[in-house]
Order: sequence, then C-alpha cells, then structure tokens
Amino acid sequence: MNKKFLVIGNPIEHSLSPKLHNYWIKKNNLKASYDKKFLEQGEIQQLILEVRKEKIHGLNVTVPFKKTVIPFLDELSDEAKSSQSVNTIYKNKNKIIGDNTDIEGFKIGLETTSQIIKNKEALILGAGGVVLSIIIALKKMQISKIYLSNRTELKALEIKKIFPEIEIIEWGKVSSFDIIINATSIGLNNKDEINIDYKNISQNKFFYDVIYNPKETNFLKKAKRYGAQTENGKMMFIYQAQKAFFKWHNILPVVDNETLNLLNT
Ligand code: ATR
Repeated sequence: MNKKFLVIGNPIEHSLSPKLHNYWIKKNNLKASYDKKFLEQGEIQQLILEVRKEKIHGLNVTVPFKKTVIPFLDELSDEAKSSQSVNTIYKNKNKIIGDNTDIEGFKIGLETTSQIIKNKEALILGAGGVVLSIIIALKKMQISKIYLSNRTELKALEIKKIFPEIEIIEWGKVSSFDIIINATSIGLNNKDEINIDYKNISQNKFFYDVIYNPKETNFLKKAKRYGAQTENGKMMFIYQAQKAFFKWHNILPVVDNETLNLLNT
C-alpha cells in the first residue's frame, strides 16, 4: 500500500519538507509519498478524519496551525503537551496522536554546532508558535538564564506565566547574553531588519536564526560582520523532520551531505 503523508500550513508554498521526506522515502525503499497542502483552519477537522480513516498516514503541521490543531486530536505526547505545539500527527491504536519534534530538532541542531549552551544566557526574540519548544530545549541543555523580547509584550507575558523564571525585555532593547535567537518571522523577506546595535553587541557572541531560507538573514549577516559566530535554522529543520520520519516509518534516516545539499535552494 502506498502510504500518504502531508505537511499542512498557510502559507505552505515554500516548505522544503516534501523534498526532504521524499528523498528519505526513496532512499529507504518505502512505498509512500509526501506532499504539501495549503489549508484554512476550517478544513483541519476534515483532514484529521482522513487520518482516522487511514487515508492519510501522517501529517506535519506548520505555521499557523501548530496550536490550533490540538482540539482535534485524541492524545498529546509529553513534548506536545508542554509546548502546546504539535508538528507531527499519526494514528496509533485507534487514537490520533499529536507529537512535537521541534524540541528535539532544535536541541540536536544546536548540538551539531560547536557552541556550548550549558550555563550560558540566551535572549530569544519573538513569542510565536515555536518559542515554547525553543525554551524547553534550552532548559534541557541546562541554559542558566533566558531573556525574552517580543514586539507584542502581552504574548511574552503569556510565556512567562508558563516559565516564571524568564525575564522579559522591552522590544528593541537587548539584555546581556551569550546566545541570541531570532524566533520571529523577520528575515523571511531579504529586506527585513531587526534594529539592534550589532556593532556593540556582536563580538564573540553566538547569533542563531530559526530561519533557514534565506540562508543568511540580515540579522546573521550584520552580526557576522561585527565578529559574531552565526548559525541558521537548517539543522533544526532537518532534525525535526528526521524525528517525524522515525515516528511514522520506524526508521531513523541518515543525515548525510546529500541531505544537506537538498536544502540548498
Ligand atoms: P504566531 O504568532 O501566529 O505563532 P509566528 O510566525 O510563529 O506566528 O510568530 C511571529 C513572531 O514574529 C511573533 O513573535 C511576532 O511578533 P508579535 O507577537 O508582536 O506579532 C514577530 N514579528 C513578525 N513581524 C514582526 C515585525 N515586523 N516586528 C517585530 N516582530 C515581528
């Protein structure tokens, strides 16, 4: 039987998940296909029904549905529960399970860099869907302090309710930090800028951008110019996909140079 998998989102046009999953499907000689589907919130329930009927065997979920998909599921993994964010769905023993592989993806992605996270201080920019996953991963990696800054402060305060130890920083200001993480959507367009004082804060610091397409946002470009080490979100993306692949196929696909080259758009 040809198993069917989908990534759902809005927008979805630029998703590279089909490329990655179909490559691994082929490499492992599996009978399956993986497509992308543009969706409206009102269509989610119907789609989950397709998973229930086993017409679809697995879903990846991206912006803006990672949280709004939750009411339609039967059970959440611990990771999905704690992050209130689902990026991977499948059926197990007649139950529709919502799982989160972003936490592991972010963690392994960071571990592939030479950066030490333990006992360091991080400043996260943004308070969108992926931020709880990042916070949980950083805590697992024994970060000593997390600062959070978001344009809409209310959303940052909602996150502080869940993790009271986090310190909120006014948008546009910068705390002391070892690692700064852009988890906003600023940078998806090449002209986007985050207005911080790169010249005075970049030297010997680590700048991480969740965005991987474009490869180097202005945030990373400018920081690098002033002496920072930088990394984009490519490895996070690959490893969240690898973990999702494992949940569905029970095979951990290999991340080799060919895999990395697939994403060089
Ligand atoms: P969602 O909030 O629906 O989960 P997201 O794409 O995951 O969407 O998150 C977008 C993030 O980028 C938010 O933190 C958003 O800030 P607001 O909460 O203030 O909307 C941030 N963002 C997007 N465009 C921005 C801009 N021009 N300036 C500052 N922050 C921006």
